[in-house]
Amino acid sequence: MTAQQPSAVARHYRQGGLLRKIDEALDRLYPGHTTLTTDDLHGVDEFHIGGHAATRELAEHLELRAGLRVLDVGSGLGGPARHLAQHAGADVTGVDLTEEYVDVARRLTDRVGLADRARFQQGDVTALPFPRASFDRAWMLHVGMNIEDKGRLFTEISRVLTDNGLFIVYDVMLLGDPTLVRYPLPWASEPELSFLARPQEYRSLLRRAGFDMVAEHDHRSRAIQSLRDAGDAHRRISTPHNPPGGDTPPAPINVAMGIDASTKIAKLLKNIEEGLLAPTELICRLR
Ligand SMILES: C[S@@+](CC[C@H](N)C(=O)[O-])C[C@H]1O[C@@H](n2cnc3c(N)ncnc32)[C@H](O)[C@@H]1O
Repeated sequence: MTAQQPSAVARHYRQGGLLRKIDEALDRLYPGHTTLTTDDLHGVDEFHIGGHAATRELAEHLELRAGLRVLDVGSGLGGPARHLAQHAGADVTGVDLTEEYVDVARRLTDRVGLADRARFQQGDVTALPFPRASFDRAWMLHVGMNIEDKGRLFTEISRVLTDNGLFIVYDVMLLGDPTLVRYPLPWASEPELSFLARPQEYRSLLRRAGFDMVAEHDHRSRAIQSLRDAGDAHRRISTPHNPPGGDTPPAPINVAMGIDASTKIAKLLKNIEEGLLAPTELICRLR
């Protein structure tokens, strides 16, 4: 990663006023609500294909129990981390490059009363601000597509995990010709910010960083259905007074994606349907 890339990635995600947009989306979802639970936030706080259903399924593979220390690599708005804290009683630390996301993640976590079990800090996951063996588990949901130096990323994760620690990657990976991939996509408006890699590159870099592969799942078919649903939800909420794109409230599920959400969803769907990209889960264990 060049010195310019982390700030360009953070600029891609930073919206300004994101908490207000989330509150507006929550008001539309739950008119007159006074209190919130983690479950109420699912429509707005998860930024990966499959949303909360995917989070729940991946969480099963982490073999968690109360008190285990989990690192959420590129934690976004904190939805996946809160799920682990709430439903598995894990002690979760999220790290993310984008200040605004970290701020929103903390505030939402405070609101649902989980601040003692889910913490968030700003940082670059290719230089993790933690000592060796600080965590029992780690996961990374839809982050590697923004990271050029995945070798360094996985070496960092292996450094902060304890021996035998499980690590789950759930990224959109490259299957076809990279020159045919269409943009904008949710993680990069143009190809310069996108660092797609093939599953075999991930596997080889993970092995080199000290991980053994445990399992691999291709989530293409679920992705196609879930992206069609997300596109439909966006179209339903878009009216002549609230067109897709521009400075208008997006459909709740697309809040984190900002403007052009419907175009980004449509391009991602097309790339997956054409067999160029696939959301892929790799489960591995530190040797
Ligand atoms: C598509 S979002 C996924 C967020 C979250 N994992 C989720 O599934 O809801 C990608 C996230 O990766 C973060 N990110 C990208 N590159 C990063 C880096 N080098 N260090 C830390 N976070 C990074 C972005 O700020 C963004 O929050």
